[in-house]
Amino acid sequence: MTWPGVIGRFRDRLSVTAETPVVTLLEGNTPLLEAQVLSQHVGRPVYLKYDGANPTGSFKDRGMTMAVSKALEAGAQAVACASTGNTSASAAAYAAKAGIRAIVILPAGKIARGKLAQAVIHGAEIVAVDGNFDDALALVLELTSTHDVALVNSINPFRIEGQQSAAWEVTAALGAEPAVHALPVGNAGNITAYWAGYKAEQRAPRMWGFQAAGAAPLVWGEIIDKPETIATAIRIGNPASWETAIAARDESGGRIEAVTDAEILQAYRLLAHQEGIFCEPASAASVAGVLKFADDLPAGPVVCTLTGHGLKDPDTAADEFSELDAVPPHLDAVLEQLGW
Ligand code: F0G
Repeated sequence: MTWPGVIGRFRDRLSVTAETPVVTLLEGNTPLLEAQVLSQHVGRPVYLKYDGANPTGSFKDRGMTMAVSKALEAGAQAVACASTGNTSASAAAYAAKAGIRAIVILPAGKIARGKLAQAVIHGAEIVAVDGNFDDALALVLELTSTHDVALVNSINPFRIEGQQSAAWEVTAALGAEPAVHALPVGNAGNITAYWAGYKAEQRAPRMWGFQAAGAAPLVWGEIIDKPETIATAIRIGNPASWETAIAARDESGGRIEAVTDAEILQAYRLLAHQEGIFCEPASAASVAGVLKFADDLPAGPVVCTLTGHGLKDPDTAADEFSELDAVPPHLDAVLEQLGW
């Protein structure tokens, strides 16, 4: 069967009608990979839900197909979002497909290069503000409540609806829910969506959420004024979906914990070197957390969501090596360089 996209596949569970104009890039249906090395490390079968394989390279597309379709149905001519990068890339692409404007408000200087490139090339109208994501989100809320522009951040319930599809794909692929579902937490929309998706199917994996230690308001129980982490996607100090993330944790018997940037980078390298999967640093927080708290894992399979593609943030990967020195174009020189 040709994959019809999230709305096409899950239409009966989503708020769409025959009149809804479906804006899709055929998102969803991403791989659920068995991670052999990680499984050995933690003594449980570990699977990676690789949502970096979505059309714009992140899980945001699952919700954006819904948010932009519903905005178009309501007659919107423009959508707007605040973003640490991926939401803006996705909004820009879906707005381009829909033929409407995308306005994105970003924290200046903190957007990974691949994501900014996407927003630019899809023709988004970009405003960089001298502040962090939380400041940008406050501005976009003000903008969309005073102007005729549809908000497409994850406080838009259609975003959450669409993002439930990832949980449904996991249960379909495994034939059951995992014992633990781990994912990175930033603005906390995705953990909210997964939990809603599982609950809609009467499933109840333990939800394990991980924040970067320098941006972990849900762990410390207070707003962080100056969030900092190498994982810029989750550099958020005041998550919009705070209460629903805590509910997901508590109702599922799960946990929300902090992982350091060093632990995130270690998991990021392990995934690339040993599992053949290149994800962006924020995505590796899910794996870093499962490795850190492996002793507490219940029996049964573990799923880690890898939320974004590694090429989103080429600079973090490039920092792993120094400038390459060119050698003369002779095999001897090549062999010498290889140490053979
Ligand atoms: N992983 C990646 C790659 C992300 O881009 C985000 C959020 C998250 C995890 C966290 O998901 O916010 O639902 O808890 N990125 C948003 C953005 C904030 O603007 O692109 P969340």
